Amino acid sequence: MGTGASKNSDSSHGGQLYVSLKMENLNVRGDLIPHVYGSLPITGSWEPTESLSMARESASMWVLSFIVPPNHETLDFKFLLKPKYNARPCMVEEGPSRQFIGGALQEGDARPALFNVGLDEEEVLEYRVFIEVDIVSPFDLAASWRAYLENLQPSRVRGIPDVSINVAPETGMENSSGSTLELDLEHYVVPAPSSIAGALYAANLAETPRSLLGTGDFSKIDASTGGSYGTSRAGDCSNSCKDMDAVVSDPCKLLSVPGFDSKSVGTFSPVPKQESQKGLFVDRGVGSPRLIKSAGAGIFTFDRKLDCETKKGMPAAAGAVAAAAIADQMLGPKEDSRLAIVLVGLPARGKTFTAAKLTRYLRWLGHETKHFNVGKYRRLKLGTNQTADFFRGDNPEGMEARNEVAALAMDDMISWMQEGGQVGIFDATNSTKSRRNMLMKMAEGKCKIIFLETICNDAHVIERNIRLKIQQSPDYAEEPDFEAGMQDFKERLANYEKVYEPVEEGSYVKMIDMASGQGGQIQVNNIGGYLPGRIVFFLVNTHLTPRPILLTRHGESRDNVRGRIGGDAVLSEAGELYSKKLAEFVEKKLKSERTASIWTSTLQRTILTASPIVGFPKIQWRALEEINAGVCDGMTYEEIKKNMPEEYESRKKDKLRYRYPRGESYLDVIQRLEPVLIELERQRAPVVIISHQAVLRALYAYFADRPLQEIPHIEVPLHTIIEIQMGVTGVQEKRYKLMD
Ligand code: F6P
Repeated sequence: MGTGASKNSDSSHGGQLYVSLKMENLNVRGDLIPHVYGSLPITGSWEPTESLSMARESASMWVLSFIVPPNHETLDFKFLLKPKYNARPCMVEEGPSRQFIGGALQEGDARPALFNVGLDEEEVLEYRVFIEVDIVSPFDLAASWRAYLENLQPSRVRGIPDVSINVAPETGMENSSGSTLELDLEHYVVPAPSSIAGALYAANLAETPRSLLGTGDFSKIDASTGGSYGTSRAGDCSNSCKDMDAVVSDPCKLLSVPGFDSKSVGTFSPVPKQESQKGLFVDRGVGSPRLIKSAGAGIFTFDRKLDCETKKGMPAAAGAVAAAAIADQMLGPKEDSRLAIVLVGLPARGKTFTAAKLTRYLRWLGHETKHFNVGKYRRLKLGTNQTADFFRGDNPEGMEARNEVAALAMDDMISWMQEGGQVGIFDATNSTKSRRNMLMKMAEGKCKIIFLETICNDAHVIERNIRLKIQQSPDYAEEPDFEAGMQDFKERLANYEKVYEPVEEGSYVKMIDMASGQGGQIQVNNIGGYLPGRIVFFLVNTHLTPRPILLTRHGESRDNVRGRIGGDAVLSEAGELYSKKLAEFVEKKLKSERTASIWTSTLQRTILTASPIVGFPKIQWRALEEINAGVCDGMTYEEIKKNMPEEYESRKKDKLRYRYPRGESYLDVIQRLEPVLIELERQRAPVVIISHQAVLRALYAYFADRPLQEIPHIEVPLHTIIEIQMGVTGVQEKRYKLMD
């Protein structure tokens, strides 16, 4: 029944009046929550702190429903608005109180509600007011109460402590999720959208020499002078590779380009300096004013005009990373804002693995980072067939050639930094003082060098690394005899050992026996600043113990069904079924892993999804909560598009940086996930993470080494488990789809 419908006790036949007070504002301000206060039975108090909050029925409509008998007393009430996020006083509507008598609003009391929100009393917010009244039978009331209880299921989630464990019932059964489903895990495997790079040899993914980029014609590299550097293991190869792309993406394809001469590679033009050199841009989220500092000026200004198209070259970072970038630019010497992490160590000490992992981490945090692997430069310039002799300290030609490719890689790294790159990871043995001196001279005034030395005294670990090297390195791709490869590599190693000089100069971090799984040691000398600090912290916490990490979204929630974002809804029927299947899956997959743990957010849809899993500790993390949609929380995408078209368009344009008003951006989510990630790296036992779409996109991107821009678009479907297998060669992925 519509506005102001009058009821009388005769027509109600014992029913009650179900009253819905409604307020509507099409230019909705989600930060102001409408409330009602007044006489019984609405609140029974004219004290604003005791007012009742109205619920959001749609993007623009707020509602408060209550039940009164048909012969109810007169209700006096008023609307008020309470700010959601700050302690500002609430605003009471203008005009006299409204009266609800005999199931109807009094004449004129359906007038709009007006609120003065501006300081100068000029800004007035106007809400339309409606009232709907229906008669409900006692049976309907009882049914509706039951539905309400089922929908909220408050007792199932509230009161669960941050850390909990459900023990299996005393049936003695391994699998106690209560379901009789027999899961054959392999049956549920579905292809992953893209293969994770961890299965590949990490050096192949490092930077390609600039001299090889952009020419499009590899024959420009002079291959005529023959194999003059050392002796060739698999014989000379005069292949000149016409397909540059093939060479760049897979150095193994290039068997040998002997006699590389740097003079013959002058065909590329210098890359123009990027805009980012002209000023410092710090992301504060799309839509917010951004801080700009011109290189020469000493002051900061706000620029509201720049849109996301002009953000090229801006560091894609938020929060702590952006603040640190500002501090470094303002306080530190210029070269300190560019950092070269120069690896030092004998072959087979895990340098390339560490370099690749550090690169992945820093990129994920939003730092422009690149991995320069001198071995890759050597292979592309000199071919893959160098024998152990090439690496002798008393082979002058070999030494010269190796220094040459190292200098080339360093040159490339410095040029890239001058174009806006922040952190270069320079991956080579760099095992003599004279090599390191050469690098320090090249870096003088251009970037700060930190040496990262990896020392390993564990014969088992070294042997394992050597074996992996023979299996994976393009240096041995043409060697059919595994044992001959092992022999050659051990000789190469011995050649390095003869001339090896541990780092004692400059700023350095030494990782000693960190890969052995026995604790190890980290020594740090002359390290300061935000980024070096983060790097050390990361290195202290990472290790190589193989273990799986299972990522899954919560089971389908009732808000998923309605298409509403955010919120804290319970599971739908399908979601509940998934929670049972997931419990079976986890129990089967991790049955011999009693030290595994289950991590959820603090929202009930993840806690409920985890609830059938027994026997593992469950830990709730606030950091695992879904992206905060701010004023759009609880709305559908359609409603946002209709009621906040500008917000909708801004997000569509730049989903990574777009920050919901009063909420978060994807960059913000990444920042808050950093402690989760460090803890994940530190864990040695399997972890199951039950979280939300945006959060899992961000976490997955770290493992899959996906660029920041892609994160908001990564596919993380419901009812699917992404298994990330962490291992000594990197990361591998498998997906299981338990339900459609
Ligand atoms: O729709 C489910 C959900 O988890 C929302 O709660 C969240 O706002 C959204 O996904 C994140 O995805 P997107 O960034 O694509 O909107």
